[in-house]
Amino acid sequence: MGKNKLQRFQENKGFKNLYEPSFQEVYRKDYPLKGHWTQKVFKNNHPIVLELGCGKGEYTLALAEHHKRKNFIGIDIKGARLWRGAKTALEKKIENVAFIRTRIELIESFFAAGEVSEIWITFPDPQPKKEKKRLTSPGFLNRYLTFLQPDAIIHLKTDSRPLHDYTRQVVEEWEGMQLLEADTDIYGSGRQSTDPLIAVRTFYEEMFLAEGKPITYLKFSIKTGQGIATLQE
Ligand SMILES: C[S@@+](CC[C@H](N)C(=O)[O-])C[C@H]1O[C@@H](n2cnc3c(N)ncnc32)[C@H](O)[C@@H]1O
Repeated sequence: MGKNKLQRFQENKGFKNLYEPSFQEVYRKDYPLKGHWTQKVFKNNHPIVLELGCGKGEYTLALAEHHKRKNFIGIDIKGARLWRGAKTALEKKIENVAFIRTRIELIESFFAAGEVSEIWITFPDPQPKKEKKRLTSPGFLNRYLTFLQPDAIIHLKTDSRPLHDYTRQVVEEWEGMQLLEADTDIYGSGRQSTDPLIAVRTFYEEMFLAEGKPITYLKFSIKTGQGIATLQE
């Protein structure tokens, strides 16, 4: 492992806005902050928005600066990437941001029923061969349902047309979800340059744009109280 990475892991331990529980601490167990993020971490009663697979956290930070009356939590498994986001938040004194280092498969251990109002899923691995691993598969959506508020919003930005189409199909097949927006080329569909959807870009988004790939977007609402049991996983 590179020296730089080890240094970052060491620094991460001192960041007050980064939470890194071990697997044993959260596997089939509630994390102590479950149900208490606004009160104990953000010390306000603003809604919580998650970014799943946030990488270096640029998008979480940009959204947090844009929406001061919301709290943002970026989640990723890679500590060296999260280091960048957590450090920038501390340097810029962005108080409405936190980061969690964990596998998204364990996300139910972190949030209580109704604790989260919105989720951004930004450029996840499309997992072409393993449907169950897609972050918008019924298995993952059922996990999110355990902690989402009624009629919560989920956003998906991806360069993968198959993942976009797959997710759209999942949304359309289940009556508990409602498609609110679908765009297969957000930079080619005449949006104003000030539209936050294109004005704020993730690290991977910049890379894919430079390669000339169209960036797609889906926005849908999801009702809590009914699982996605009707769909085949
Ligand atoms: C392609 S990168 C995108 C990063 C960022 N969203 C962006 O657009 O720049 C995917 C990220 O998801 C994270 N990731 C993938 N699967 C994960 C999982 N099961 N749990 C936590 N993080 C995951 C990876 O570590 C990586 O940082």
